[in-house]
Amino acid sequence: MRPIQAAYPHARFRRTRRTDALRRLTQEYTLTTGDLIWPLFVRDGENIEEPIHSMPGVVRRSVDRIVAAAEEAASLGIPAVCLFPYTDPSLKTELCEEAWNPCNLANRAIRAIKAAVPELAVMTDVALDPYNANGHDGLVRDGIILNDETVEALVRMALAQAEAGADILGPSDMMDGRIGAMRTALEAAGHKDVAILSYSAKYASAFYGPFRDAVGASGALKGDKKTYQMDPGNSDEALRLIERDLREGADMVMVKPGMPYLDICRRVKDAFGVPTYAYQVSGEYAMIRGAADRGWIKGEAAMMESLLCFKRAGCDGILTYFAPEAARLLNGMR
Ligand code: PBG
Repeated sequence: MRPIQAAYPHARFRRTRRTDALRRLTQEYTLTTGDLIWPLFVRDGENIEEPIHSMPGVVRRSVDRIVAAAEEAASLGIPAVCLFPYTDPSLKTELCEEAWNPCNLANRAIRAIKAAVPELAVMTDVALDPYNANGHDGLVRDGIILNDETVEALVRMALAQAEAGADILGPSDMMDGRIGAMRTALEAAGHKDVAILSYSAKYASAFYGPFRDAVGASGALKGDKKTYQMDPGNSDEALRLIERDLREGADMVMVKPGMPYLDICRRVKDAFGVPTYAYQVSGEYAMIRGAADRGWIKGEAAMMESLLCFKRAGCDGILTYFAPEAARLLNGMR
């Protein structure tokens, strides 16, 4: 219901903007540390933090350093981290067997985090691209991305992650039917409390470029992902995908990328009222960080504004590489 608003000069919108106290009292949406999910890149080795060229300030960490980052996340009040492995090229195959190896990098990192910081939620990525010789999220035969065979592989991968102790599985592959297949397998294996945050509305986007460098998939990728990821021109389709994934057993849903797709976030939240997340992806991070590093925009202000706008668009949380920096600001630290 819209309240009746007096006309000027009785109504002066600037009255409630006059001081910081009045602005805080009338602010509709707020960002808190509880809204943040921190994506982390895992690599082999020990005591390594390796810079990623296209994502200044973001590093690939060896498992021991991942544990340190997880401890930092918990101490900052960040509720969850999301793991992405940088897999050695020698372990990448056409059948992606490394994806469900119980001792692969991601699963070792899950176990190490849950042993050290059990209260922190660990989210995973369920897709074959880090393990795939051709860089795709699915199995490929004769240049075709195979849907049903990929779903079987993803189920194996999801079970291995649940076994390792993951709290939230994040299928980012965009195959059809994977949520239902995973949910059925999780129930049968006794993992009834493992949550699924489905990357339901994931677009074929140019904003993933730096991420593909970070996980070492850009060199391997043959062609593009347009036969499984969404067309940026589509909006109704996002609602149909979300509805389908909820029906199949997703607990939470994601829109990805974030900033160019806030209209989708709002539609999803309004239509379903379910826990809704956005991924402020690597290219979005790189844009803000790159411009800030050159002095073209104020980095901290742009970062905080971009994150608050996700809340305004209806998101319950945001996956963002800015998570620790934003949390430090929210906690009054610098
Ligand atoms: C792939 C995956 C991608 C991202 C998360 N999972 C890239 C892609 O679909 O090519 C992108 C995240 C980012 O850009 O920050 N399963």
